Amino acid sequence: MNKVLYIQASARGERSASINVADAFLASYKESHPADEITRYNLWEANLPEFDRAASNGKYAVMSGADIPDADKEAWRRVLATIEHFKSFDKYVFSVPMWNFGIPYKLKQYLDVIIQPGQTFNFEDGQYIGLVTGKPAFVAFARGGEYQGDASGMDFQKPYFELALGFIGFTNVQSLTIEPTLMGGPDVAKAKTNDVIENAKILAANF
Ligand SMILES: Cc1cc2nc3c(=O)[nH]c(=O)nc-3n(C[C@H](O)[C@H](O)[C@H](O)COP(=O)(O)O)c2cc1C
Repeated sequence: MNKVLYIQASARGERSASINVADAFLASYKESHPADEITRYNLWEANLPEFDRAASNGKYAVMSGADIPDADKEAWRRVLATIEHFKSFDKYVFSVPMWNFGIPYKLKQYLDVIIQPGQTFNFEDGQYIGLVTGKPAFVAFARGGEYQGDASGMDFQKPYFELALGFIGFTNVQSLTIEPTLMGGPDVAKAKTNDVIENAKILAANF
Protein backbone atom coordinates (compact mmCIF):
# COMPACT_ATOMS: atom_id res chain seq x y z
CA MET A 1 0.00 0.00 0.00
CA ASN A 2 1.42 3.37 -1.04
CA LYS A 3 0.59 6.64 0.64
CA VAL A 4 -0.07 9.58 -1.68
CA LEU A 5 0.12 13.19 -0.49
CA TYR A 6 -2.08 15.57 -2.52
CA ILE A 7 -0.94 19.12 -1.90
CA GLN A 8 -3.37 21.83 -3.02
CA ALA A 9 -1.88 25.27 -3.57
CA SER A 10 -4.99 26.79 -5.15
CA ALA A 11 -7.41 28.47 -2.76
CA ARG A 12 -10.32 28.11 -5.23
CA GLY A 13 -11.63 24.65 -4.44
CA GLU A 14 -13.90 23.20 -7.13
CA ARG A 15 -13.46 26.35 -9.28
CA SER A 16 -9.73 25.70 -9.57
CA ALA A 17 -8.46 24.39 -12.89
CA SER A 18 -5.36 22.83 -11.30
CA ILE A 19 -7.49 21.12 -8.64
CA ASN A 20 -9.89 19.81 -11.31
CA VAL A 21 -6.95 18.21 -13.12
CA ALA A 22 -5.35 16.83 -9.94
CA ASP A 23 -8.75 15.48 -8.79
CA ALA A 24 -9.24 13.70 -12.13
CA PHE A 25 -5.69 12.34 -11.92
CA LEU A 26 -6.38 10.96 -8.45
CA ALA A 27 -9.80 9.53 -9.34
CA SER A 28 -8.14 7.59 -12.14
CA TYR A 29 -5.22 6.66 -9.86
CA LYS A 30 -7.63 5.26 -7.29
CA GLU A 31 -9.20 3.02 -9.93
CA SER A 32 -5.85 1.51 -10.89
CA HIS A 33 -4.43 1.52 -7.32
CA PRO A 34 -7.47 0.79 -5.11
CA ALA A 35 -5.44 -0.16 -2.03
CA ASP A 36 -3.48 3.11 -1.91
CA GLU A 37 -4.30 5.86 0.55
CA ILE A 38 -4.64 9.47 -0.60
CA THR A 39 -4.26 12.34 1.89
CA ARG A 40 -5.40 15.80 0.81
CA TYR A 41 -3.34 18.67 2.24
CA ASN A 42 -4.79 22.10 1.51
CA LEU A 43 -2.05 24.65 2.16
CA TRP A 44 -4.68 27.33 2.92
CA GLU A 45 -6.06 25.29 5.82
CA ALA A 46 -2.81 23.75 7.04
CA ASN A 47 -1.75 26.45 9.52
CA LEU A 48 1.83 26.33 8.24
CA PRO A 49 4.61 27.54 10.54
CA GLU A 50 5.89 31.03 9.81
CA PHE A 51 9.49 31.02 8.66
CA ASP A 52 10.22 33.93 10.97
CA ARG A 53 13.19 35.01 13.08
CA ALA A 54 12.98 32.00 15.44
CA ALA A 55 12.74 29.48 12.58
CA SER A 56 15.60 31.22 10.76
CA ASN A 57 17.68 31.03 13.94
CA GLY A 58 17.03 27.26 13.96
CA LYS A 59 18.12 26.92 10.33
CA TYR A 60 21.31 28.95 10.80
CA ALA A 61 22.14 27.02 13.99
CA VAL A 62 21.84 23.72 12.08
CA MET A 63 23.96 25.04 9.22
CA SER A 64 26.73 26.13 11.56
CA GLY A 65 26.58 22.99 13.71
CA ALA A 66 25.50 24.98 16.79
CA ASP A 67 22.81 24.11 19.35
CA ILE A 68 19.41 25.62 18.69
CA PRO A 69 18.79 28.40 21.23
CA ASP A 70 16.08 27.51 23.75
CA ALA A 71 13.91 30.41 22.64
CA ASP A 72 13.87 29.07 19.07
CA LYS A 73 13.31 25.37 19.79
CA GLU A 74 9.53 25.43 19.52
CA ALA A 75 9.64 27.18 16.13
CA TRP A 76 12.20 24.65 14.90
CA ARG A 77 10.12 21.74 16.26
CA ARG A 78 7.16 22.92 14.17
CA VAL A 79 9.38 23.13 11.08
CA LEU A 80 10.64 19.57 11.68
CA ALA A 81 7.10 18.26 12.24
CA THR A 82 6.01 19.74 8.90
CA ILE A 83 8.99 18.12 7.17
CA GLU A 84 8.33 14.74 8.84
CA HIS A 85 4.74 14.87 7.63
CA PHE A 86 5.90 15.70 4.09
CA LYS A 87 8.53 12.94 4.01
CA SER A 88 6.20 10.26 5.36
CA PHE A 89 4.52 9.73 1.96
CA ASP A 90 5.50 7.60 -1.04
CA LYS A 91 4.07 9.66 -3.89
CA TYR A 92 3.11 13.32 -4.34
CA VAL A 93 0.48 15.16 -6.35
CA PHE A 94 0.42 18.98 -6.49
CA SER A 95 -2.09 21.49 -7.85
CA VAL A 96 -0.20 24.71 -8.60
CA PRO A 97 -1.71 27.95 -9.96
CA MET A 98 0.39 30.75 -11.42
CA TRP A 99 0.29 33.86 -9.26
CA ASN A 100 2.11 36.92 -10.55
CA PHE A 101 4.30 34.76 -12.79
CA GLY A 102 5.36 32.55 -9.91
CA ILE A 103 3.67 30.27 -7.38
CA PRO A 104 1.14 31.25 -4.64
CA TYR A 105 2.79 32.50 -1.46
CA LYS A 106 1.39 29.62 0.62
CA LEU A 107 3.25 27.13 -1.56
CA LYS A 108 6.40 29.26 -1.35
CA GLN A 109 5.98 29.31 2.44
CA TYR A 110 5.63 25.52 2.43
CA LEU A 111 8.82 25.18 0.38
CA ASP A 112 10.64 27.59 2.69
CA VAL A 113 9.61 25.40 5.64
CA ILE A 114 10.38 21.97 4.18
CA ILE A 115 13.61 22.73 2.30
CA GLN A 116 16.06 22.38 5.17
CA PRO A 117 19.67 21.18 5.49
CA GLY A 118 19.97 17.72 6.94
CA GLN A 119 16.26 17.08 6.32
CA THR A 120 15.50 17.38 2.63
CA PHE A 121 18.97 18.25 1.28
CA ASN A 122 22.60 18.07 2.30
CA PHE A 123 25.72 19.92 1.24
CA GLU A 124 28.55 17.43 0.70
CA ASP A 125 31.90 17.80 -1.05
CA GLY A 126 30.87 21.15 -2.48
CA GLN A 127 27.61 19.79 -3.86
CA TYR A 128 23.98 19.89 -2.92
CA ILE A 129 22.37 16.45 -2.57
CA GLY A 130 18.60 16.01 -2.44
CA LEU A 131 17.36 13.62 0.24
CA VAL A 132 13.77 13.01 -0.93
CA THR A 133 14.61 10.28 -3.41
CA GLY A 134 12.86 7.42 -5.19
CA LYS A 135 9.45 9.08 -5.03
CA PRO A 136 7.38 10.17 -8.04
CA ALA A 137 5.51 13.47 -8.30
CA PHE A 138 2.73 14.69 -10.55
CA VAL A 139 2.06 18.43 -10.86
CA ALA A 140 -1.01 20.10 -12.36
CA PHE A 141 -0.11 23.68 -13.32
CA ALA A 142 -2.74 26.28 -14.30
CA ARG A 143 -2.38 29.83 -15.51
CA GLY A 144 -4.64 32.52 -16.88
CA GLY A 145 -2.41 33.43 -19.84
CA GLU A 146 -0.21 31.47 -22.24
CA TYR A 147 3.51 31.11 -21.72
CA GLN A 148 4.83 29.49 -24.89
CA GLY A 149 7.49 30.81 -27.28
CA ASP A 150 8.69 34.35 -26.49
CA ALA A 151 6.44 34.50 -23.41
CA SER A 152 8.12 31.47 -21.79
CA GLY A 153 10.68 33.82 -20.20
CA MET A 154 7.92 35.20 -17.98
CA ASP A 155 7.10 31.77 -16.56
CA PHE A 156 8.60 31.57 -13.07
CA GLN A 157 5.93 29.09 -11.96
CA LYS A 158 6.77 25.78 -13.64
CA PRO A 159 10.57 26.16 -13.93
CA TYR A 160 10.88 27.35 -10.33
CA PHE A 161 8.63 24.69 -8.84
CA GLU A 162 10.35 21.92 -10.79
CA LEU A 163 13.74 23.29 -9.75
CA ALA A 164 12.68 23.21 -6.09
CA LEU A 165 11.47 19.59 -6.37
CA GLY A 166 14.70 18.60 -8.12
CA PHE A 167 16.78 20.35 -5.46
CA ILE A 168 15.33 18.15 -2.72
CA GLY A 169 15.83 14.95 -4.70
CA PHE A 170 12.85 14.36 -6.99
CA THR A 171 13.95 12.93 -10.34
CA ASN A 172 10.62 11.54 -11.53
CA VAL A 173 8.35 14.58 -11.98
CA GLN A 174 5.55 14.53 -14.52
CA SER A 175 3.39 17.57 -15.13
CA LEU A 176 0.52 18.89 -17.20
CA THR A 177 -0.32 22.55 -17.73
CA ILE A 178 -3.71 24.13 -18.43
CA GLU A 179 -3.39 27.45 -20.20
CA PRO A 180 -5.01 29.86 -20.85
CA THR A 181 -7.66 29.54 -18.15
CA LEU A 182 -8.65 33.22 -18.49
CA MET A 183 -7.26 34.98 -21.55
CA GLY A 184 -9.03 32.83 -24.17
CA GLY A 185 -12.43 33.04 -22.47
CA PRO A 186 -14.47 30.30 -20.76
CA ASP A 187 -14.98 28.06 -23.82
CA VAL A 188 -11.27 27.81 -24.51
CA ALA A 189 -10.58 27.17 -20.81
CA LYS A 190 -13.16 24.38 -20.72
CA ALA A 191 -11.79 22.71 -23.85
CA LYS A 192 -8.21 22.94 -22.56
CA THR A 193 -9.23 21.58 -19.17
CA ASN A 194 -11.02 18.63 -20.76
CA ASP A 195 -7.97 17.82 -22.91
CA VAL A 196 -5.60 18.00 -19.96
CA ILE A 197 -7.92 15.90 -17.80
CA GLU A 198 -7.89 13.13 -20.43
CA ASN A 199 -4.07 13.16 -20.42
CA ALA A 200 -4.01 13.22 -16.61
CA LYS A 201 -6.13 10.06 -16.46
CA ILE A 202 -3.67 8.27 -18.74
CA LEU A 203 -0.63 9.36 -16.70
CA ALA A 204 -2.34 8.32 -13.44
CA ALA A 205 -2.69 4.70 -14.46
CA ASN A 206 1.11 4.30 -14.54
CA PHE A 207 2.00 6.62 -11.66
C1 LIG B 1 -3.26 36.52 -7.14
C2 LIG B 1 -3.34 36.02 -8.55
C3 LIG B 1 -2.31 36.28 -9.43
C4 LIG B 1 -2.36 35.80 -10.74
N1 LIG B 1 -1.29 36.03 -11.56
C5 LIG B 1 -1.30 35.52 -12.83
C6 LIG B 1 -0.17 35.68 -13.68
O1 LIG B 1 0.85 36.27 -13.33
N2 LIG B 1 -0.24 35.16 -14.92
C7 LIG B 1 -1.33 34.47 -15.38
O2 LIG B 1 -1.31 34.00 -16.51
N3 LIG B 1 -2.41 34.29 -14.58
C8 LIG B 1 -2.40 34.79 -13.32
N4 LIG B 1 -3.48 34.59 -12.48
C9 LIG B 1 -4.61 33.76 -12.99
C10 LIG B 1 -4.45 32.31 -12.56
O3 LIG B 1 -3.17 31.81 -12.90
C11 LIG B 1 -5.51 31.45 -13.22
O4 LIG B 1 -6.80 31.88 -12.82
C12 LIG B 1 -5.33 29.97 -12.89
O5 LIG B 1 -6.37 29.25 -13.49
C13 LIG B 1 -5.31 29.76 -11.39
O6 LIG B 1 -5.23 28.38 -11.06
P1 LIG B 1 -6.47 27.66 -10.34
O7 LIG B 1 -7.61 27.78 -11.32
O8 LIG B 1 -6.00 26.26 -10.14
O9 LIG B 1 -6.72 28.39 -9.05
C14 LIG B 1 -3.47 35.06 -11.18
C15 LIG B 1 -4.52 34.81 -10.28
C16 LIG B 1 -4.46 35.28 -8.99
C17 LIG B 1 -5.59 34.99 -8.03
